[in-house]
Amino acid sequence: SQSLIKKLEKIERIEIDNEDVSKFNIRFQPSVTPGKVIFEAENLGKAYGDKQVFDHVNFFVQRGEKIALLGQNGQGKTTLAKILAGVTKDYTGSWTLGHNVNIGYFAQNQEEVLDPNKTVLQEAEDAATEETRPRVRDLLGSFLFQGDAVSKKTKVLSGGERNRLALCKLLLRPFNTLIMDEPTNHLDIQSKEIIKLALQNFEGTLIVISHDREFLQGLCDKIFEFRDGQMKEFLGNIDEYLDYRQKESIREVSIEKAKLSEKPEIKEKTEPVKTEPAKNTFISKEQKNLQNKLKKAEEKIADYEAEIAGLEEIFSKTNPTDEELKKYNQLKEELAEIMKEWEEIMGNLE
Ligand SMILES: Nc1ncnc2c1ncn2[C@@H]1O[C@H](COP(=O)(O)OP(=O)(O)OP(=O)(O)O)[C@@H](O)[C@H]1O
Ligand SMILES: [Mg+2]
Repeated sequence: SQSLIKKLEKIERIEIDNEDVSKFNIRFQPSVTPGKVIFEAENLGKAYGDKQVFDHVNFFVQRGEKIALLGQNGQGKTTLAKILAGVTKDYTGSWTLGHNVNIGYFAQNQEEVLDPNKTVLQEAEDAATEETRPRVRDLLGSFLFQGDAVSKKTKVLSGGERNRLALCKLLLRPFNTLIMDEPTNHLDIQSKEIIKLALQNFEGTLIVISHDREFLQGLCDKIFEFRDGQMKEFLGNIDEYLDYRQKESIREVSIEKAKLSEKPEIKEKTEPVKTEPAKNTFISKEQKNLQNKLKKAEEKIADYEAEIAGLEEIFSKTNPTDEELKKYNQLKEELAEIMKEWEEIMGNLE
């Protein structure tokens, strides 16, 4: 089972510099664990007057996914974010919110969200919980609101200041789902890096709208692409997506008009699990039971992997249907569960 151990290690390794995050003390608050499905949209549509922005949009988002939402200007990314965040209530079709989901929303246009007559400090304190309130001034300080800057009314803030305040607010309250609409606008490279690190450490679900390739790389592993009023899903990170699209930057993809036929990026295939040969030694009944359990778990894992590989084979030839994608994601989820079980059994064996 050596290869499986390596695989588990790979899954758990997070490539970030923790020191930086703790230095700035910038961490999202832990929140309750929501259900497995965070959002499910069915035939979602939105029109402003007689202008149909999008229609018949279907997707679902699972717990823990980190999704980049891309699309040309005016495709309706902000409109969709507002629907999911509960800000926009008149739409067609339906969408459901999973159990125990609490959403932190970063609006593209902070003027619509911030109270113009509140000060920076008031806005932050209103967003804080009893637990985080004592840290409000420190956090504001880390976001460069020092001294008198905290008494400025939000209506006199620059775009960059508004965004920094909005980020502070998200850090002061526990959320398990973040919807962020162009959170890095007006931010310098270092601030972007700090936010990215905090988001990489964030254990919840993320949907982020951004045109910033560096920011998205290493952060998101799934792409939702809005195009011609439709939503397409890609399994893969931003580099893979752009490779697939053969485009240097996201803006280039955004201005490209031609319709291509898409297929999803295929995740690397996993090897089937091999069972260790039984050792010819005396072992306790309990250990023997565990070994049996282990063997069963490994057989299950192999079955799942075969089924997943089968779907990937299909996906490499034709566009997956929603049903197939759903099935695929479900299999992956179930596989992860069994891997966890397997890991526990392994732990007990030693
Ligand atoms: N309140 C509104 N009233 C009328 N039309 C609107 C309104 N809000 C957005 N629109 C229109 O809906 C379309 C989608 O806008 P939206 O802001 O969702 O796009 P976007 O993908 O977020 O664009 P961007 O990349 O520029 O942020 C645009 O054509 C926009 O002009
Ligand atoms: Mg927008």
